[in-house]
Amino acid sequence: MPPPFTVTFSAGSAGPWRVERLSTLAGPGLPAATHLAMTDLPGASWRLRGVVSHPRYSTAAELKMLAGVQAGLGRPEATCAALIPIRKSEAWWSMAQDERRAVFEDRSRHIALSMKYLPAVARRLHHARDLGEPFDFLTWFEFAPEHAAAFDDLLAELRASPEWTYVEREVEIRVRRV
Ligand code: HEM
Repeated sequence: MPPPFTVTFSAGSAGPWRVERLSTLAGPGLPAATHLAMTDLPGASWRLRGVVSHPRYSTAAELKMLAGVQAGLGRPEATCAALIPIRKSEAWWSMAQDERRAVFEDRSRHIALSMKYLPAVARRLHHARDLGEPFDFLTWFEFAPEHAAAFDDLLAELRASPEWTYVEREVEIRVRRV
C-alpha cells in the first residue's frame, strides 16, 4: 500500500478536462464550471479535496480479484471521465463497520456487480470526510467513449441498491479530455 496522499479537484474556466454535464442527484449541487483538473488550480471557482487511502471494506479475496483485473488511471484511450462526490447520511456513519460492510456488499453487491465493468472503467476513491469537506467521498472514473453506456448502466445498478438509500448528497460531473 502506498502512503496516503491528498488530491485536490478544481473546477474553473481552464483545465485538462472539459465539463460536458453536471447533474445533481441528491442534496445541494455545485456551481457550474466549464473545466475540471485533478490539481489545485489558481483561480478555481470551487475545490474538493480527498485522500487516497487504504481500503475499508474489501476482503483479501476481493482485493486480489480487483488487482487482477483493474486498469490504472491515465490510459490514452480513456478520454471520458466522471467525478462523483458523495456524502452519506448520519444513519450510515452511526452504524458499526460490520453493519456498513453488510449493506455495502452482502445486501448491495457493490463489488460483485461493479467488477464486471473492469477493466473498461478505471477508478480511484478519495476519502474526504475526515478532512471536514462537504462530501465524504470523491469517486473518480476514467473510460473510453465506447464504454460510456456501460458506465451509465453501472450507475443505475448502484443507485438502485440499498447502499444508496444512505446517500444524501451526490453530484455527477461528466468530463472529456481536452
Ligand atoms: C467503495 C469497487 C464503481 C462509489 C468501493 C470499494 C470497492 C469498490 C472495492 C471499497 C473500498 C474499501 O474497501 O474501502 C468499485 C468498482 C467499481 C465501482 C470495481 C467499478 C467501476 C463505483 C461507482 C460509484 C462508486 C460508479 C459511484 C457512483 C463508491 C463509494 C465507495 C466505494 C462512495 C465508498 C463506500 C464507503 O466507504 O462507504 N468501490 N466501485 N463506486 N465506491 Fe465503488
